[in-house]
Amino acid sequence: MRIALFGGSFDPIHYGHIELIKGALSSGRVDKVIVIPTVANSFKRGRALIPAPYRYYMTKAVIDSVFDRDVFVSDVEFSFEGITYTVNTLREVTKDSFIIPFLLSNGVKGEDALTRHQFFWLCGSDILPAFDTWYKPAEILSYAVLLCAKRKGDDVDVISECARLKGLFGCDIALFEMNGVDQASSDIRENRSFDSIPEAAADFIAVHDVYNAVKAFDLCSDSACEFFYDAAVKMYPTLSGKRLLHTLNVGLLSAKLANDHGVSCDKALIAGVLHDCAKEYPIEEQFEMARKVSGDTFTDEKLLHSPAGAYLAAEKFGITDQEILDAITYHTTGRGGMTVLDKIVYLADKIEPSRTYTDLSEMRRIAPVDLDRAARLCLDSVMDKFRRKNRPIHPLTEAWNKELL
Ligand SMILES: [Fe+2]
Ligand SMILES: [Fe+2]
Repeated sequence: MRIALFGGSFDPIHYGHIELIKGALSSGRVDKVIVIPTVANSFKRGRALIPAPYRYYMTKAVIDSVFDRDVFVSDVEFSFEGITYTVNTLREVTKDSFIIPFLLSNGVKGEDALTRHQFFWLCGSDILPAFDTWYKPAEILSYAVLLCAKRKGDDVDVISECARLKGLFGCDIALFEMNGVDQASSDIRENRSFDSIPEAAADFIAVHDVYNAVKAFDLCSDSACEFFYDAAVKMYPTLSGKRLLHTLNVGLLSAKLANDHGVSCDKALIAGVLHDCAKEYPIEEQFEMARKVSGDTFTDEKLLHSPAGAYLAAEKFGITDQEILDAITYHTTGRGGMTVLDKIVYLADKIEPSRTYTDLSEMRRIAPVDLDRAARLCLDSVMDKFRRKNRPIHPLTEAWNKELL
């Protein structure tokens, strides 16, 4: 089959991207398109993309809502270490050991998935003038043919650029004509024009309040932000999308609340982002990890992940700060003598933007101004839920509850 690979940061994905994919398919030059959001992106103040899981899951939501078939999204770059160049992605994706299982798992039937594939790198004509300055352009062209959209009104003289690149690399460039949509992610972000992008992207951005939430990075040090970006990628293989996005949301909201209440935004960002890092480990492993942190204090299966999370935070993520580890350990139960940081992570866990389990508007309204009152409301609602479900209240929760009465 003829497969176009379409890499990009998709921050956010917009109609220009969608039209490019549609144009490539309707040109008849390719049979399938694989969209590959970039992942490696260490934090750089003022220039950082939003963390990779947000961009990946937003892109997937849009592609799944717009295309019934023939277009897939790949998470391949989550497994790469360090800086990722186009050539690294191509080297990996064009291997039979990658592409065949990928196509099969995306519903491409045996014969089509197993035949020898021809690869294209889907792009706009704007990349042509600088393509020869990319990292290892000749190797890129050994894996894939450039499949380039030619749009009316393009600034680039496509024909002479193609001739120039043919002179340099001996390559042919596949061109297709299309009516482009003039959108740029940077304009959409700056103007917050999220009503002009595909509905699934607008919904995703609204549910996670993501372009607002990331302003929390402005309150934190570079090293804490870098930690967050790395942790977001490191947790990807062990958490479902919903859970991973929740933990990122909790990290960002915790940092903001820490700023409101005068404690370390860095610690809140880190404790929040890691709070559920153990949540989807097998229960026996959670049990073992929990026991190492807190003996038999936590035995309920739904609570184990909090001490287990503290264990992983220390062992896998190198956290040594006891305040951060405690905020993770007690985010499900609370405890007597809750610190401000404990309360922030406890509360952020229950009220981050994507949470909808009950009416959270009052808690969200007062959390920035009266942490204790918001925590009180939150604890009441949690204890209510436990009583309704006939679940026992943990002694640590009882101890906190008594203090708040
Ligand atoms: Fe949790
Ligand atoms: Fe959580």
